[in-house]
Amino acid sequence: MSLPVNYVEQASSYPWPVTLPVAVRESLWRAAAHAQLNAYAPYSRFLVGAAVLDEHGRIHAGCNVENAAYPQGVCAEAGALSAMALAGGRHLQAVLVLGDGDAWVTPCGGCRQKIREFASPQVPVLLANRQGLRGVLTLEVLLPHSFGPDHLFSVVPTP
Ligand code: THU
Repeated sequence: MSLPVNYVEQASSYPWPVTLPVAVRESLWRAAAHAQLNAYAPYSRFLVGAAVLDEHGRIHAGCNVENAAYPQGVCAEAGALSAMALAGGRHLQAVLVLGDGDAWVTPCGGCRQKIREFASPQVPVLLANRQGLRGVLTLEVLLPHSFGPDHLFSVVPTP
């Protein structure tokens, strides 16, 4: 799979061209597109792939994994974040979410908060489908006035 060059560079809150190198954007997209192929979504049939870039330049991917007990399903972003944490990554540099349909697939509310744990408000969240990148938003736009680790660590000593 290759990343099409006809990016939709509109309605984005993040200044294009994204400061991420094109090669990194492509690697994120490829990782998420590959992950989407393994999404387990027999109930919604909505397949999602996600990829995150950590502070070491490593990319970690995830897919949604649904469950017959519906609320137990896990989003693609959560899987990618777990993979990052397992590998020792703690500081997100970028997130990419890939899904199908006419509308941009943005992280759900819960995943916005999960991303927030490891990301500054300025971190770009790239939105994509199988055809390529569609746009980019910052975490701050997706989750304004967010609550994060600093709120706790400014009161309670860092563990
Ligand atoms: N889903 C994700 O994995 N990430 C998103 O950003 C949006 C929604 C999943 C959850 C569920 O398995 C399916 O998509 C339908 O909501």
